Amino acid sequence: MEFPFDINALFPEQISVLDQHLAAGRKSSGRGDPQALIARVIDELGKASAKAQQLPAPITSAAKLQTNTHQLYLLKDGELNGGRGVAVGFLKVGYKKLFLLDQRGAHVETEPLCVLDFYITENLQRHGYGQELFNFMLQHKKVEPELLAYDRPSPKFLAFLKKHYDLKEGVPQVNNFVVFNGFFRNTAAVP
Ligand code: ACO
Repeated sequence: MEFPFDINALFPEQISVLDQHLAAGRKSSGRGDPQALIARVIDELGKASAKAQQLPAPITSAAKLQTNTHQLYLLKDGELNGGRGVAVGFLKVGYKKLFLLDQRGAHVETEPLCVLDFYITENLQRHGYGQELFNFMLQHKKVEPELLAYDRPSPKFLAFLKKHYDLKEGVPQVNNFVVFNGFFRNTAAVP
């Protein structure tokens, strides 16, 4: 996604880890308020993600990020757009208290790291960017993919998890979350 300002000046790293402070590691990018520009990038990507998933409204915006403890990994490609860079996509994660059902149908109270939103711009999908972003998050959070909970994963995301991480059959739940075999390795059922 292109913007009328320099993405490379705004986001020095290829992957920026953003939280409620909306700061990407550089104090000022010259012209404009960096926080307002970062907010604009997040808002535009959030809208595009909602559209791609046919959601009635975005679940990711700068305002929502500022009022939560979520983390958003934002990936750029610094070479595109004549060297000004483009925003490629984002991955948003956060901890949530969940009641889940284990393989035997027993209730388990957990607070796992959840994948809440994930989006790569349409023209750059299926080029490996999603995997790059996801792998970065796994290393940054020191977590295995089967220990995450996935909030309403789309068919494309399920295909992605199967292809790259061999995550197939989900353990049936009564909420929108999907977890896979291996998730309940270290959890105990609620007595
Ligand atoms: N149809 C089916 N599978 C797809 C598609 C597609 N159009 N696009 C990606 N995939 C899956 C496939 O397994 C694909 O492998 P293949 O091309 O060999 O079939 C694999 O992902 C490609 O891996 P990457 O290139 O690393 O993934 P990509 O950069 O495309 O990112 C993502 C994956 C984020 C799911 C992207 O396709 C996307 O943004 N989709 C639209 C939004 C979306 O559905 N987001 C997930 C929402 S659910 C949630 O966030 C909890």
